[in-house]
Parts: sequence; C-alpha cells; structure tokens
Amino acid sequence: MSDINISNTLRANLNTQLDLCRKLEDLADNLPDDVDAQSCLSLAREIYPTLKQAHEFEETILFPALRNNYSDNEQLMSTLERLRFEHWEDESFAEELRDCMISFVNERSAECINSLSYMLRGFFEGVRRHIAFEREHIIPLLENKSGSTIQDNQ
Ligand SMILES: [Fe+2]
Repeated sequence: MSDINISNTLRANLNTQLDLCRKLEDLADNLPDDVDAQSCLSLAREIYPTLKQAHEFEETILFPALRNNYSDNEQLMSTLERLRFEHWEDESFAEELRDCMISFVNERSAECINSLSYMLRGFFEGVRRHIAFEREHIIPLLENKSGSTIQDNQ
C-alpha cells in the first residue's frame, strides 16, 4: 500500500470516527428524554466495531509503514507506542460505554443517566484528542517524508 493510499484510508477512518463522536455528542445533549431507544441501541452497537476497524488498520498497516520509513526517529517510535496504548484504552472504554447505553435504554434510572452523560463526554473528548493528534502529526509524515520531526504535545 503506498503512503498516499495509507493517508487516504487514515483520513477516511478518522472522519468516520468523528461522525461517531458527533452522534454521541448529540445523544449526550438530548439526554434523557429526547433519546430514541432504537437509535440509542444501534449507536451503542456501532461504537466498538468502528474503533476496532480503524485501530486495526493503524496497527497493521500505518504504524509498520511509519516504523519502516522513520526507523531512526526514536521519538516517533515512542509516540506510536503511546497511540497504540490509547487505542487499547479507547476500545476498553467503548465496551463500557456500549453496556452503559444498553442499560440506559433498559432501566432509565437517574444514576444510569448521570453516568451515561459523563461517560459519553469522556469518551468522545478522548477520541477527538487522539484524532487531532494523528491529523496534525501523523498525516504530514505520510504526505511529506521530509517533515520527519514529531512533537509530542498531547
Ligand atoms: Fe489511532
């Protein structure tokens, strides 16, 4: 896969995840009364597979290509490890969020509504930060190999 194809796939995956974040923010804004049970359940089922598919692409195609192109850039190597760890954290958070959304639809307890609102915001804010970092620091490495420095400013 060429760097430009990797870059295009990465951009598409990041946009899909941002769409997901937008839907989760809408849900958070409409809690608790303006939420349709069926759309909440189908959104709940969308979260983990969307993240997992994007993360698998990064870890099996993108990161190995970067390791190959920038093998002498130690800072980038540790950044990729951090991004991989964030994937793992976000996937684990995605499963908790899915379960919380399902129990919100089934129970609608006050405790459940409060924890769902908190979890939704924590989740999409974290995913957006991760995406912003990849857009700012990873995409330029694919599109312009001369820009080989990377800032770890998260
Ligand atoms: Fe990522």
